[in-house]
Amino acid sequence: MFTKGSSPDSFVALMLILGIETSCDDTGLALASDRSILAERLASQADVHSLFGGVVPEIASREHLRMLGPLLSGVLRDAGARPRDITDVAVARGPGLLGSLLVGLSLAKGLCLATGARLVGVDHLAAHLMAPGIDEELRFPAIGLLASGGHTHLYRIDSPVNLSLLGRTLDDAAGEAFDKAAKLMNLPYPGGRLIDLLGTLAPPDPKLFPKPYLSNQSLDFSFSGLKTAVAAFVAAHPELRRPRQPAPEEIEAHPEDFADLALACSSLNYAVAETLRIKTERALDASPDAVSLIVAGGVAANSRVRAAMLELAERRGLFAYLPRLSLCGDNAAMIAHMGRLLAARGLGHDLTLEAVARGRAVPWDYLDVGA
Ligand code: KG4
Ligand code: ZN
Repeated sequence: MFTKGSSPDSFVALMLILGIETSCDDTGLALASDRSILAERLASQADVHSLFGGVVPEIASREHLRMLGPLLSGVLRDAGARPRDITDVAVARGPGLLGSLLVGLSLAKGLCLATGARLVGVDHLAAHLMAPGIDEELRFPAIGLLASGGHTHLYRIDSPVNLSLLGRTLDDAAGEAFDKAAKLMNLPYPGGRLIDLLGTLAPPDPKLFPKPYLSNQSLDFSFSGLKTAVAAFVAAHPELRRPRQPAPEEIEAHPEDFADLALACSSLNYAVAETLRIKTERALDASPDAVSLIVAGGVAANSRVRAAMLELAERRGLFAYLPRLSLCGDNAAMIAHMGRLLAARGLGHDLTLEAVARGRAVPWDYLDVGA
């Protein structure tokens, strides 16, 4: 039993769950009680990978290995806890970069071996979708849209442990479309946040870029054509491509210096947001009993996507759940939260738990380990 801590409710918490996130290029650790997030630390590797214009898997694994120790000491100190106080270790087991996941899984298994804590493997995608549940209780059935750098998935969600995939991207993910477009303009990686920011400087031209893959019945997405359209636009307006790549801080400090990119960025935000909104609305049409709409993942931070989804939910009388910005991208609080939802149902794993690579479905292989 966890009895000491800096946060008031940690004195009475029966559960101290450590969340570990290492599925891509963010190293995250969080400690949660059965009721709240007690401590959280995140080390982004964006600076390292931006030198290469995208994530370099081997560097990502090495950075996770370098950062996990100090981050663990940090969250334990922040929560006033010791390793032996940890009752459950929730670890993102995929889908993600295999090498990165193995680093997180090794820490998780080592801790469980040393302390006797229970191991809970967490589906990174389900964790994204349940992230808004950290701040408010979610109502089901829901339609869930997960839009990130690696995924654009639509789900029907009947409970935190009952998600059915309705549609997915056939090629690029929505975040990838932003990142590739940013690269074409020689903006730093990951470019989604910067395109969002620059897009706020001008109204969109709704006709500038296509809303791809809408004239079909499927709930799948295809964003690769959008990259081609941006490439053609930049080729026709070569002045949009910066000769020198600016640092993200330069753009954030003086977005007006990049106002010539505003129309393209705004129109791209519009094309992505509308494409996501239209397919999500079709998923809602097919699930008329849904009472809520959940939008999650890095792209859920996009201001135009948020506005479109809030408008959609309001128009259809649905509860709208969008994570606060710090919970949209990869983070360990969402892993700890998903872990406690599973642990509360008595679900966990033994030490044979395996990592699941990008593009693979995460198996439902939970064991009954007792609530
Ligand atoms: O969920 P996430 O942090 O990592 C993955 O699991 O992929 O998502 C990262 C993606 C990147 O493609 C990034 O450019 C995009 O989310 N992103 C955004 C915004 N913030 C992050 N895209 C559009 N607008 C934003 N504000
Ligand atoms: Zn993610």
